[in-house]
Amino acid sequence: MNQIIHSISLTGDWELDIQHMLEQYNKPHTYEHSVRVANEAKRIAKRFGLDEEEAAIAGYLHDISAIIPNDERIQVAEKMQIEVLQEERIFPMIIHQKISRRIAEDIFKVNNEGILDAISCHTTLRKNATPIDMVLFVADKIEWDQNGTPPYIVEIKEALEQSLEHACFAYISYLWERRENLKVIHPWLEDAYFDLKVKLEVE
Ligand SMILES: [Fe+2]
Ligand SMILES: [Fe+2]
Repeated sequence: MNQIIHSISLTGDWELDIQHMLEQYNKPHTYEHSVRVANEAKRIAKRFGLDEEEAAIAGYLHDISAIIPNDERIQVAEKMQIEVLQEERIFPMIIHQKISRRIAEDIFKVNNEGILDAISCHTTLRKNATPIDMVLFVADKIEWDQNGTPPYIVEIKEALEQSLEHACFAYISYLWERRENLKVIHPWLEDAYFDLKVKLEVE
């Protein structure tokens, strides 16, 4: 791992530590997005009586793999012995969730499996998603990394009034309705869609 990524000295302050790492690689935009996602994840965790600190750590680290350029991600994933799915080969952006998990574990020394799993599925979700998976997933979609207001913001916020599952489903349904336009449909996203559809008994 150290041949791929410069190591940093950890201060124990997550926000400062990711700032140092992302500054080294000139990713200020990712830093700002990650802080916003961490804060939103904390707010959502509090609302649902979940661990705010864990949610925040997941938020800070979820996009840390931004330090690896998109066109190097598949090669890096293979070097890290991460399983690369066909869909990820076609559209390497999606592998960033798995690489972030590995960096969180190896460089930032996170050993909480719940946090690592949430990071690992923050773009696609997965079936039987845990509460922290859903908190990070929703926080990342509300505080998205693009300009302007997300087109699904009203639906996701209204659904969040009901439950985390409803909020996740609001966003995944939005994607699902537009799946013809997606570059690929990741199998975890498809699993999450049908899993939530059954659980929420949506027609
Ligand atoms: Fe991401
Ligand atoms: Fe993100």
